[in-house]
Amino acid sequence: MNNIYSAIQISEHVYWVGAIDWSIRDFHGYTTPHGSTYNAYLVMADKITLIDTVKSSFMDEMLSRIASVVDPSKIDYIVSNHSEQDHTGCLLRAIDRIKPEKVFASAVGVKTLKEIFHAQHDIQPVKDGETLSLGNMDLRFLETRMIHWPDSMFSYLEKDGVLFSQDAFGMHLATFERFADQLPSDMLEYEAATYYANIVLPYSPVVLKALDKVAATGWSFKLFAPDHGPVWRQNLSFILDLYKKWALQKPANKAVVVYATMWHSTEMMAKAIAESMAREGIRVKLLSMNEVHRSEVIYEVLEAGALIVGSPTLNNNILPQMADVMTYIKGLKPSHLIGAVFGSYGWSGESVKDLEAILKEMKVDIVAETVSVKHVPGEDVLEKCSELGRTVAAELKKRIAD
Ligand code: FEO
Repeated sequence: MNNIYSAIQISEHVYWVGAIDWSIRDFHGYTTPHGSTYNAYLVMADKITLIDTVKSSFMDEMLSRIASVVDPSKIDYIVSNHSEQDHTGCLLRAIDRIKPEKVFASAVGVKTLKEIFHAQHDIQPVKDGETLSLGNMDLRFLETRMIHWPDSMFSYLEKDGVLFSQDAFGMHLATFERFADQLPSDMLEYEAATYYANIVLPYSPVVLKALDKVAATGWSFKLFAPDHGPVWRQNLSFILDLYKKWALQKPANKAVVVYATMWHSTEMMAKAIAESMAREGIRVKLLSMNEVHRSEVIYEVLEAGALIVGSPTLNNNILPQMADVMTYIKGLKPSHLIGAVFGSYGWSGESVKDLEAILKEMKVDIVAETVSVKHVPGEDVLEKCSELGRTVAAELKKRIAD
């Protein structure tokens, strides 16, 4: 085993032994321009325990980091907090190599791992609230179903006050810095928000309950050790408060105007809407799907109060770029939004009806009359767009004040 890679100690008994993926740029449709890390943690207790593993192709990096602390064959237990393959891709090969005495996962995790790997390894289920003795210290388990898979759970090492929070509190960010306090806070907030918007957002009601559940444990936390990005060891309320804010999804003084365009007609309308809203004091983001990635759109929607969408009609449909982003946004279930629709067409004009239907499915409250134009908007239609913007702005201000 080479000595390129080394572990990083994060607390008295815990080492980070994960992998840095500098190259990944796509996580099932979520663009990750700054790479990621797959965090695994080694607990040097009487029963040496590995918390989570890494993506399949990074197993040697993980084993090499473990070997800088202890021979991997000395590991007694492996705990899988989350079955998704970025944390279990190498699990079976790691089990074969390490030959641990026991492997643990939540009850749903045990089933999920069998469904993924179709292997007969004896993985032991642990219950919500169960304590596992590691000899000279304990590991406690807390189910966190649907954050963000049914199998998900947190583990807590009481002795060092470390909460292993799997995907929660994480971010896709490849760095050599292992602690959040070594990075600028605006970078942390942006990356954590992008991660929340693209991964955790649909489960916001569950997040609120989980935050209460974690608080009710009375456990004393010194570190949050997620499965992606840096470890939080200072000012834990920074990420806790952000999670609470994002999960609450309260309407904010911000509108996102999303559109795609063929010959600039829909774009002219989008600009008229955005300008009029900005004049009314709304913070507006104008995003053209001809240029922008869907991940950026949902990041902007995360803290918005209004979503206004526009598309020309192409072959009796919305433009494919708009179909892409609307499917993505709908799946991520942002809530408490008001909205409106606009678009242009040559002869049939279905796009606005299709967009209205999607917004209704998303439970977006459509508060202004749709504006649709044949071919190119003139001054009269652009004034209608400005009026649409003013109407949405007025309603948004009212809802924020309520
Ligand atoms: Fe990082 Fe849900 O896996």
